Amino acid sequence: MDYQKIINQIAQEVSVKESKGKVASYIPELSCVPSDKLGMHLYCINSGHYQFGDSAERFSIQSISKVFALTMAMLAPAEDLFKRVDVEPSGDPFNSLIQLEYEKGIPRNPFINAGALVVSDLLISHLENPKEEFLEFVRAIAHTKSIGINDAVYQSEKRHSDRNASLVHLMKSFGNIENDVDEVLDFYIYQCAVEMSCKELAMAFMIYANGGALLNTDSQIIAPSKIKRINAIMQTCGFYDEAGEFSFRVGLPGKSGVGGGIAAIHPGQYAVTVWSPPLNAKGNSELGMLCLENLTTLTGLSIF
Ligand code: DON
Repeated sequence: MDYQKIINQIAQEVSVKESKGKVASYIPELSCVPSDKLGMHLYCINSGHYQFGDSAERFSIQSISKVFALTMAMLAPAEDLFKRVDVEPSGDPFNSLIQLEYEKGIPRNPFINAGALVVSDLLISHLENPKEEFLEFVRAIAHTKSIGINDAVYQSEKRHSDRNASLVHLMKSFGNIENDVDEVLDFYIYQCAVEMSCKELAMAFMIYANGGALLNTDSQIIAPSKIKRINAIMQTCGFYDEAGEFSFRVGLPGKSGVGGGIAAIHPGQYAVTVWSPPLNAKGNSELGMLCLENLTTLTGLSIF
């Protein structure tokens, strides 16, 4: 498969399109990012790298971090993880409070904000230095020691986190949060503020395409049986109330973030990431989805 040729074709088609989407502004610092940024990177299981555009520039990974946090929670001896967080699509926006009330503080899945906040709580209970260990994990799987957070984004979200605070308080009232509300929020916001490029994200996501192992090493980060489950949750819940649409158009497990990034994998084939900040009404990158739809159309391959 000539991936570079296909990616060049996608670049040609998509870079002339004007997104009708809007750059996220409810975290004010995110709105400072130019809306015309566009990049894509595909990391193939045979070690090939293929890219176009702003694929080497770091951006705020936001909710894509939820995949890394879930992976760490599945590595921790936390038997109660899937008693405290379900694995069903929510059909609601990522920051919705509605289901939590009548489902007694158990979030639908680990990728909506409520679920990721429970995962953060669980990691705080199990790790000695959650922030440092989270960063170290991401650096290790991305093979890049310089990955860190964007402090301005971190501070900006800290000043605008009333909705997430409501989610943590509500879940704590149901007994599903063990730690201090502010500590849980702080750790969650820290993870979301991690900055990575499309290339770094594609390298990190290779463990999900490669059965949990770092490519070209003997290092098995997480068991294949757990990777199967994480990929299943990405497929069914990675795009909130647009998970069905993403499956329908793209046909790969993936995860989006309000920074405009999307990471997706084709098991046994590749990890691919895109970045375009304008979001559609469901909070997913509009042109990012289009790039990935073109990828599975032009290659003729998806997981279906
Ligand atoms: O908690 C928030 O609202 C953000 N830090 C992350 C949300 C997000 O990325 C949703 N993804 N599309």
